Amino acid sequence: MNGRLTGAGEQPLHVVPAPRVPQSLRTSSPAPAAAGVPGPGHDQRRAPLAEAVERYRRRSTVSFHCPAHRGGRAADHVLRGLVGQEMLTADVWLDPAEQHRVRREAEDLAAALWGADRAFFLGNGSSGGNHAFLLATLRPGDEVVVARDAHVSTLMALVMTGARPVWITPDLHPTLDTGLGISPAALAATLEEHPRARLVVLVSPAYSGVCSDVSALADVAHAAGVPLFVDEAWGPHLPFHAWLPTDALAAGADAVVTSTHKLAGSLSQSALLLVRGDRLDVEAVATAVRMTASTSPLLPLLASIDTCRRRLALEGHALLDRALAGAGRLRERLARVPGVVLVGPGDLGLRPTLVDPLKVVLDVTALGRTGVEVDRLLRERCAVAVEGSDLRRLYLVVSPQDDDAGLDRLAAGLEGLRLRGAPAVRGPGSAAAMLRPRERAVSPRIAWFARSETVPLRAAVGRVAAELATPYPPGIPVLVPGEVVDAAQVAYLESVVSAGGHVHGAADASLATLRVMTA
Ligand SMILES: Cc1ncc(COP(=O)(O)O)c(C=O)c1O
Repeated sequence: MNGRLTGAGEQPLHVVPAPRVPQSLRTSSPAPAAAGVPGPGHDQRRAPLAEAVERYRRRSTVSFHCPAHRGGRAADHVLRGLVGQEMLTADVWLDPAEQHRVRREAEDLAAALWGADRAFFLGNGSSGGNHAFLLATLRPGDEVVVARDAHVSTLMALVMTGARPVWITPDLHPTLDTGLGISPAALAATLEEHPRARLVVLVSPAYSGVCSDVSALADVAHAAGVPLFVDEAWGPHLPFHAWLPTDALAAGADAVVTSTHKLAGSLSQSALLLVRGDRLDVEAVATAVRMTASTSPLLPLLASIDTCRRRLALEGHALLDRALAGAGRLRERLARVPGVVLVGPGDLGLRPTLVDPLKVVLDVTALGRTGVEVDRLLRERCAVAVEGSDLRRLYLVVSPQDDDAGLDRLAAGLEGLRLRGAPAVRGPGSAAAMLRPRERAVSPRIAWFARSETVPLRAAVGRVAAELATPYPPGIPVLVPGEVVDAAQVAYLESVVSAGGHVHGAADASLATLRVMTA
């Protein structure tokens, strides 16, 4: 991002340099901020949307509007116990003009902080951002270069738009079954082969924390005259500490979606869509965001993006210092747990600047159980919940609030399970099974809307998939509508299901059957 917030000794964190918000987007005075003085519309100490909700509450307003739970008085007591009275009294409806104004002010502050021209608050996660952005930029039949590790929401956006994906596959580590990011040379070759491609869609960081070299990839895309959209769902914190990989906007991406709820402290489902430069039609993005969002937003949800932005601006560097220190201690502690192998940048042969240190990846193959089983045992026996697991690994996310007692409970829990044994998984590796492009018969949209039939999973080999099958995590579809199902995919999906893993998207979640296009 322009002027990364590197903290000590540099500009005070709440003062965002004026050039980061274009003149046209300033909410009040057009005068640029003098150095060291927050300009109007740039004062990162403000949280306009959260403040408006608070103002409404303070006035003890008598309401006849929705939601009809009336500040919780008409809510079920179990709900009240779950979310608390404070949350219910914040679930209000502002005057629409005021709501529009304070939301835009809050979004402009976010745009200024992230170095975007325009920011959009999203109440349906990065999933909603992927839908809206692709709907704004692609038309039916357009070619779009998409990283094969795209999230399932991007695949649904392809169904919605009718665009045709040209897959680009992340490099794979030869033995560690991990994607290593998209290589600039591969992108250059793909764009040369597909000169009509209208957009490049990449994921960085991946679920494993591995980032692509977005700067080099942006150069390649722009040299071909194509805008670059990065799904940075896992990277809302990246701009706020110099030890983290460079965030995609700073690296030159034209637009980014990021899940502030994942690692930046806002409520679940909240996210940001950020757009910059003149390669995109910002108003088309604004329209698509509005048209794909609920017309009755939960204001505390959106306000949590506002307060999270404020906190990152004022304290982000210090918070991330704490989180990075905690991640270091966690790694040290876990390195002493027998049978657990930490997978870090050195093992993957990557520069440390290309891997998010707040994602800790543990290979548990030597424990003789799948990652999914170890995950379940930790929850059931130790009341320790990790971010996610797959057949071989556990994935942890470190936050600034993780204390040594918590870190120790995880490590002691793993030790206490006293597991050892032969590897529980012998089938195809997850990355290999998920990331290999397959033969495509028709576009995802045509397959999604085609006449289809339900067949036993193994009978689907050689047929054209009419639905998605997505092991979750990481949320990367193994089966994509419109592609010919192959035996390796089926074997991998069977191993996920038999290990107790969750498969998202297919009508039959047990995957005993699959929907394929009618021949
Ligand atoms: C790469 C990627 N993109 C998008 C999403 C969707 O994000 P959200 O849960 O905020 O909708 C995820 C979710 O994990 C993801 O991993």
